[in-house]
Amino acid sequence: MLTISQKDFIRLTEFIIKNYGINLKAKKVLIEGRLSNYLTAEGYGSFTEYVDHIVSTKNNSDIEMMLNKLTTNHTFFMREENHFTFFNDTILPYLESTKTNHSISIWSAGCSSGEEPYTLSIIMKEYFKSNAITWDTRLLATDISQNALNKASKGFYAEDSLKALPEIWKRSYFTQKDGGYQVTEQLRKNVVFRTFNLMEPIQFKTKFDVIFCRNVMIYFDKPTKAALIQRYYNALNPGGYLLIGHSETIDREESEFQYIMPATYRKPL
Ligand SMILES: C[S@@+](CC[C@H](N)C(=O)[O-])C[C@H]1O[C@@H](n2cnc3c(N)ncnc32)[C@H](O)[C@@H]1O
Repeated sequence: MLTISQKDFIRLTEFIIKNYGINLKAKKVLIEGRLSNYLTAEGYGSFTEYVDHIVSTKNNSDIEMMLNKLTTNHTFFMREENHFTFFNDTILPYLESTKTNHSISIWSAGCSSGEEPYTLSIIMKEYFKSNAITWDTRLLATDISQNALNKASKGFYAEDSLKALPEIWKRSYFTQKDGGYQVTEQLRKNVVFRTFNLMEPIQFKTKFDVIFCRNVMIYFDKPTKAALIQRYYNALNPGGYLLIGHSETIDREESEFQYIMPATYRKPL
């Protein structure tokens, strides 16, 4: 197994923090464990050679391959279910009564392989039922990992990932094939997947009513997280909601968001 010197470890972790906000400064063992075989298979003789390549390459897919190995894309349908209950019981009734243009803008930031935005999409379809066609419920879903986004666009999942979904939803929104489930084309069309690095300025055309950014900021260091939360604040409409992972918090002093319940915040009206 290849080992990484302290100097290369610092070069690599600083490069990753600066460009992707991901803090791996306490993860030396993880870096060696997850990259060593890959480096050997790719023909690198040492971590020094590899780090030289990573910090100077213009090839995003090499960097992405590394990030995929060092972070987790793991997710599933209905993950942290009480957010979806809150979305259905509180957020959607609020939006239904206030969005006179019938256009709802939702962003799943760090959507990984798509289970989160598809879950939201199903809930909106179920909520609006026959009125769904009179509402623009398309949602934006972004991630830094092209690999994860490719899976998301195909919308094909193993049964295990869907186990929290009611049977009737599986029948209505998926087609069973090749031993798994594929999201129907109609639902796939409802989600716009894009590559986006959350370290970049947020310059989407519209402001959002709801942002889901769950289990993403766990990797970020404090200043990166604080700056991103401020960007989310600016990107939301007044009264808009920010939902983060249940193991994450936003310090009261750190932002103007109102605390609603665990992992749920609101921009004041
Ligand atoms: C564990 S998944 C979260 C999926 C889903 N939101 C959930 O809660 O189940 C974390 C995702 O964050 C993405 N991510 C990490 N750093 C990112 C960055 N700087 N910009 C965009 N996405 C990032 C990863 O690629 C990964 O897909």
